[in-house]
Order: sequence, then C-alpha cells, then structure tokens
Amino acid sequence: MARAKLISGNWKMYKSVAETKAFLAAVTVRSAEFRGTELLIFPQAPLLPLLKDSGIAFGPQSVYWEEKGAFTGEISPVLARELGCTYALAGHSERRQFFGETNESAAKRALATHAFGMKSVFCLGEMLAERDAGRTFDVLKAQCAPLFAAAKSCPEGFSMAYEPVWAIGTGRTATAAQAQEAHAFLRGLVKGAWGADGAERVRLLYGGSVKPENAKELMSQADVDGVLVGGASLEPASFLAIAAASKGC
Ligand code: 13P
Repeated sequence: MARAKLISGNWKMYKSVAETKAFLAAVTVRSAEFRGTELLIFPQAPLLPLLKDSGIAFGPQSVYWEEKGAFTGEISPVLARELGCTYALAGHSERRQFFGETNESAAKRALATHAFGMKSVFCLGEMLAERDAGRTFDVLKAQCAPLFAAAKSCPEGFSMAYEPVWAIGTGRTATAAQAQEAHAFLRGLVKGAWGADGAERVRLLYGGSVKPENAKELMSQADVDGVLVGGASLEPASFLAIAAASKGC
C-alpha cells in the first residue's frame, strides 16, 4: 500500500498576521504546483483562522486532552476542530524540553486529537548524548510506550514525526540512512503494538533541518512518508520546493 506523502511545516513561535497573509498569498498563486500533494501547517494558535480556505491543512502545535475546563494556557481540541483544524502536533521536543511535556502527556494529547475528530502528528526523537551512547532505539521505545499502552490499534490517519533533537534548528540533518534506520525501527514498534495493518497505515515523517536540498533523498527512503519542517517552512519558496521534492518519491 502506498502511503501519500505528508509535507508539514511547524512555524513554532514565528509569523505575524501580516506575514501569514503574505505567505498564504504567495502559496495560493502557485497552488497548481502542489495539487495532489498534502500540505499542512502548524502555526501559532491565534493564526489558525487565517489558514481556513487556503488549500493547506492546518492545526495547533498542541492540544489538551479535555474538551473544556480550568486549564489556563491550553487549547481545547473541540475549539481547534471548530476552527477547521484537521491535525494537531503532539509531544514536540521543544514542548518536552521547555514546558514539561512527558511521554505520558504527549500520548494523551495525541489520542485526544483523534478522539475529537482530528489527526495527530506525534513527535519523538533522541538527544545527541542518547544517540552517542547508543540509546536511540531505547529512547524511541520509551517515548512510544504510553501511547501503545493507551490505544489498542493505530488511530485512523495517525502520523509520527521522528525528529532527532540534535538535528532540530542546527543545520545538521540526519543522513538519509540514519532517518531510514530510525523509521524502520519505529514501524517495527508500531507493528508489534498495533499489528501489520497499523504499521502499513502509519505515516512516519522526518524532521530536523529539512531543506529543499535534502528533502528528496530523505523522502526517497522506504519508511520516510513525509517531513515536518521548521525553518524552511517559513518561506513559501522553500516550503513549496520541499513539496515539489516529494513528487515521485
Ligand atoms: P528545523 O527544520 O528548523 O530544524 O525544525 C524542525 C522542527 O522542529 C520541526 O518540528
């Protein structure tokens, strides 16, 4: 079964209203180029309504696992859905590093995303010291454990983004072979937990210094089903060049 490539951008805490409008105008003019390619942007939450009707799927960078309540600073998955979001990120390494996200809370956010009618992109990946110590697979396994414990099967439309922390914003991309090795391991984990069908369906994105120059080689790997792009997703030209690179992969 061929998995359609997913080209996603994480805008992190960048872009004003004016910059978002300029980005969308520049992309819309070139919409013929990406017809048939699934594009997705995770902007700051207040920018979400601007992406409606843009032809690009969109979603928040995190959602809470309750519908509503006294949870200051969190985003309701129901509200996200109401705004037209079809995806949400969960467990990004910056949430883990700076805001106390744990494997458990990341799993709860990811599964709530599906429970409330959207699709999750669940982020995970090792730190440099963990890679150097030969612990990459152990870390990935631990990061997935609460997810597999809480869900009996692969949620419809579920994606994971393998983002080695040492490759994020550093210009130091994982080699295509390193990405493929980690993705093959993750697909094996999914198979063990959710069966062969889940392993076939789950989309595994690579993230960490993805650029137009390296996107094609990464996405040509058998188990790389798309990308999660930070810096290079902020400019229409580089984001669309990465989308173009997915063609034929
Ligand atoms: P960069 O592409 O800027 O390395 O960021 C990757 C990332 O964190 C995407 O979520």
